[in-house]
Amino acid sequence: MIDLTIAEIAEIVGGTLSDISPERAATTRVTGTVEFDSRAVGPGGLFLALPGARADGHDHAAAAVSAGAAVVLAARPVGVPAIVVTPRAAVDGRAGVLEHDADGSGAAVLAGLARLARAVAAELVAGGLTIIGITGSSGKTSTKDLVAAVLAPLGEVVAPPGSFNNELGHPWTVLRATRATDYLVLEMSARHPGNIAALAEIATPSIGVVLNVGTAHLGEFGSREAIARTKSELAQAVPPPGVVILNADDPAVAAMAAVTSARVVRVSRTSDGDIWAGPVTLDELARPQFTLHAGATAAEVRLGVFGDHQVSNALCAGAVALECGAGVEQVAAALAGAGPVSRRRMHVTTRADGVTVIDDAYNANPDSMRAGLQALAWIARGGADPAGENRRSWAVLGEMAELGEDAISEHDRIGRLAVRLDVSRLVVVGTGRPMSAMHQGAVMEGSWGSEAVNVADRDAALALLRAELRPGDVVLVKASNSAGLGALADALAADSADEVADSADEGAARP
Ligand SMILES: Nc1ncnc2c1ncn2[C@@H]1O[C@H](COP(=O)(O)OP(=O)(O)OP(=O)(O)O)[C@@H](O)[C@H]1O
Ligand SMILES: [Mg+2]
Repeated sequence: MIDLTIAEIAEIVGGTLSDISPERAATTRVTGTVEFDSRAVGPGGLFLALPGARADGHDHAAAAVSAGAAVVLAARPVGVPAIVVTPRAAVDGRAGVLEHDADGSGAAVLAGLARLARAVAAELVAGGLTIIGITGSSGKTSTKDLVAAVLAPLGEVVAPPGSFNNELGHPWTVLRATRATDYLVLEMSARHPGNIAALAEIATPSIGVVLNVGTAHLGEFGSREAIARTKSELAQAVPPPGVVILNADDPAVAAMAAVTSARVVRVSRTSDGDIWAGPVTLDELARPQFTLHAGATAAEVRLGVFGDHQVSNALCAGAVALECGAGVEQVAAALAGAGPVSRRRMHVTTRADGVTVIDDAYNANPDSMRAGLQALAWIARGGADPAGENRRSWAVLGEMAELGEDAISEHDRIGRLAVRLDVSRLVVVGTGRPMSAMHQGAVMEGSWGSEAVNVADRDAALALLRAELRPGDVVLVKASNSAGLGALADALAADSADEVADSADEGAARP
């Protein structure tokens, strides 16, 4: 954050001072970071007192100040220097990002945080900061990591860890930027109409990226059209002379050209795009290779990330870097050096015994399930080589959350797709109705006997896999994070003592 006095912050957030005199507030500067976890607070920091499932941040205010916090942003006095904002109903009358906010104190602190982030972003933009906003149903975090990688050679980049993309993570990330930051990369997600517009108002991107309109959170939105309208809030929010980068291969995204007053750059896997990819081939681990075309220039790209779906993410990232002044060769080199950063998104590990484990257990919706299964099938086939080794493939799948009334039919479809892609073994993990629909879908599509099994939980799945995995098998572990299959992927990957190839350094990951 740029450093501000406590008095200035109180003024920006519209709060009153508590347990600190106006004189001290006018001379004490917040020089550290803004944190919602009291254990992360350092000297000169600002602590956000937010209600949580188990603890209320207000109860940790004193500890945060002992740890060095200059001040706390709170909804009531906490016995240590604080800026107090008035509890209020969640912004749009719906449950906000906080699940435990009965009295509106969390909504008040988040509203204060938003005002602070907005003021800081405006000042940094006036000083030359470029803000990049990314939205889409799938691939925001993957693309954010690629954008950070392609911009790194051009200047100092701030991007969120993992998937910080809501009313807390987004302004928290904005406040990571300083006067030294050249590029601020923001992931923007929505659970309700208006969410993306609100995030864009906090920090208005001059470069907006819309990846795709899928069916993630369909249960919340009701229809794909409603999802498209919400994603288009980003296209509408970018003002001229900004630029909106649209994945033209998704018709619902291409149509957003009509609702923006910014310049439009279309990316495509065909020559229809301003920035486009020549024929895409995948290597034996499903890493894409293609020619990146931008106007009259072109360069060969070999991605370090896994899965055909990463092509559109990489094209969008490349388009961002080109807008920021990079050349195609520079973009190609940066993309080649960018491996998976955020955890559990197609993290491919090959064990010493030749078993390949694909950990994609962070997130699942019908689109990303399809992408994951296709990559599994490709790797098991030995890639494009007609004489490929034909390894056995295992799809170990858990529930896709938040699909609303489509949950049963979408799980059924994925079960059928696993059979159509000729996955050798499908292990459906979980006891709910969606999981039995996935299992039944596979059975109806033509799988029989032990090819498709439904096990109760991840321990049962692990026991089955440990008993039956053979050297050379390829295993995809995929579900929404709430299904908890990440631990299963970890256990499988650790089963063989010596890893021979590890695709990512997880050191950069955060919850
Ligand atoms: N363009 C894409 N199309 C389909 N699936 C994708 C795409 N990009 C990434 N995925 C897959 O979608 C899943 C989630 O990826 P990622 O975390 O990047 O998405 P996200 O949009 O950030 O999700 P969230 O809404 O949870 O923040 C992963 O399984 C990933 O492999
Ligand atoms: Mg994300």
